[in-house]
Amino acid sequence: MKKIEAIIRPEKMNDVKVALSNLGVNGMTVSNVSGFGNQKGYTQIYRGQEIVTKLLPKIKLEVVVSTEKAEEVIKAIVTTSKTGEFGDGKIFVFDVIDAVRIRTGEHGDAAL
Ligand SMILES: Nc1ncnc2c1ncn2[C@@H]1O[C@H](COP(=O)(O)OP(=O)(O)OP(=O)(O)O)[C@@H](O)[C@H]1O
Ligand SMILES: [Mg+2]
Repeated sequence: MKKIEAIIRPEKMNDVKVALSNLGVNGMTVSNVSGFGNQKGYTQIYRGQEIVTKLLPKIKLEVVVSTEKAEEVIKAIVTTSKTGEFGDGKIFVFDVIDAVRIRTGEHGDAAL
């Protein structure tokens, strides 16, 4: 299993959700977060030092899928989230050791 953590533009969230549902993704976790990337949000000089003054609102999407499904999920997130402008976001991929559905005690892919 893989955990795919995507930081995306808030206005892209709905399209991504629809695309992942169409791929048969059964669950996801969505959080409102703020952050900065290479452009450091918005910066200003304070006492000779450049400081970050603004964290931009982003959505963090976390989805755990079977290893076989991971690549198509990543591609779908990229396709639906990309504008080509700075700040389109980033995807981090993690190996997941196990998952458990609490109600039934199922483990692994069966728990997804
Ligand atoms: N290395 C990182 N670690 C954790 N979060 C990150 C990292 N880089 C980016 N992010 C998160 O992703 C959001 C969007 O990043 P962004 O797309 O601006 O990345 P970038 O590297 O600056 O690429 P681009 O040049 O296309 O803007 C940031 O606001 C931050 O929340
Ligand atoms: Mg950036």
